Amino acid sequence: MNDFNPLVFSGVQPTGNLHLGNYLGAIRKFVALQQSHNCIYCVVDLHAITTWQDPTELMTSTREVTAAFLASGIDAKKHIVFNQSRVHQHSELAWIFNCIARMGWLSRMTQFKEKAGKDRENASVGLFSYPTLMAADILAYRATHVPVGDDQKQHLELTRDIAQKFNNDFSERIAELGVGVEMQVGDERVNGYFPLTEPLIEGPATRIMSLRDGSKKMSKSDPSDLSRINLTDDADLISKKIRKARTDPEALPSEPAGLEGRPEADNLVGIFAALNDISKEDVLAEHGGWQFSQFKPALADLAVEKLAPIAAEMRRISGDADYVDSVLSDGGARAGEIAERTLKDVRSIAGLLQG
Ligand code: TYM
Repeated sequence: MNDFNPLVFSGVQPTGNLHLGNYLGAIRKFVALQQSHNCIYCVVDLHAITTWQDPTELMTSTREVTAAFLASGIDAKKHIVFNQSRVHQHSELAWIFNCIARMGWLSRMTQFKEKAGKDRENASVGLFSYPTLMAADILAYRATHVPVGDDQKQHLELTRDIAQKFNNDFSERIAELGVGVEMQVGDERVNGYFPLTEPLIEGPATRIMSLRDGSKKMSKSDPSDLSRINLTDDADLISKKIRKARTDPEALPSEPAGLEGRPEADNLVGIFAALNDISKEDVLAEHGGWQFSQFKPALADLAVEKLAPIAAEMRRISGDADYVDSVLSDGGARAGEIAERTLKDVRSIAGLLQG
């Protein structure tokens, strides 16, 4: 726990199809957190361009992710929704963090290794330093809580390492300028400029797996469209993909322990639980003993019931690009004010002359 004002920040990349993993692992939590927290939600277009993006498609995707946020129930008036590149303070802080983070820290990032693949020499420098920009996104607002899926856990640990090193390296300056905040770190009360942000990774949907292979996570980049449910899929396609989902021949167990070693079954039960906002225990208490031939249609009905209204609303909102752009521009202006307050402090702390 720390003594910073609670603030939620999270981001989604505009890199093509948003899928059920993005929705259940992240966007749905964004919506819920609005009740209890001030929230800032960002479409991270600067992260997207760490791999090649067609410029026209990037603009379309940025608007589409924004439309998905709004269609899912994010209130852009009460909270803040914007695209990252509008607020140049993210890039400025990322540069400063590039000088705080160590090569060794970034070299250990598994997402870089996965995304760069075998041809590491040919990956962009931006892809390598991706996590420092992510730390900048979060810490430009001194955000305390970040809802994400399980795949972002290591990036959030790095964000804490960067915050901690910045707080340590500049502890005297921070005290001298009186800009620090007292916070609890372990058993100690310490003064620091940046909070040690907490990841929010919980519930039955922190890692939704591919419908074709229970050992791979559901992903935008999987070549098989049958592996994922896209937020834009219509009812027929959703049903077809669930019908074709890979499973084993056993019936469902009546307790979660029985899902051990059955990744595909575990995944479908997790999806059912998350869509209904209940636990896997609850799902199995009701559906234990069911064959997949019964369970899949029930899951398909549920998925269509929950996702079809969002898809329809997304289409409606996406059709009005001017409206979407006005939301992003308004959000960008409000985010920029907060981020600039942080950057003013950071420049002073680091000894960068300004004003
Ligand atoms: P991105 O765009 O890959 O994914 C957006 C969110 O969806 C979650 N997610 C999943 N959750 C469960 N199961 C899955 N199969 C699945 N696939 C994706 C991700 O964990 C994420 O929460 N680096 C981030 C974007 C980012 C960010 C940030 C996030 C940039 N700056 C600051 C938080 C805070 C990313 O690539 O997410």
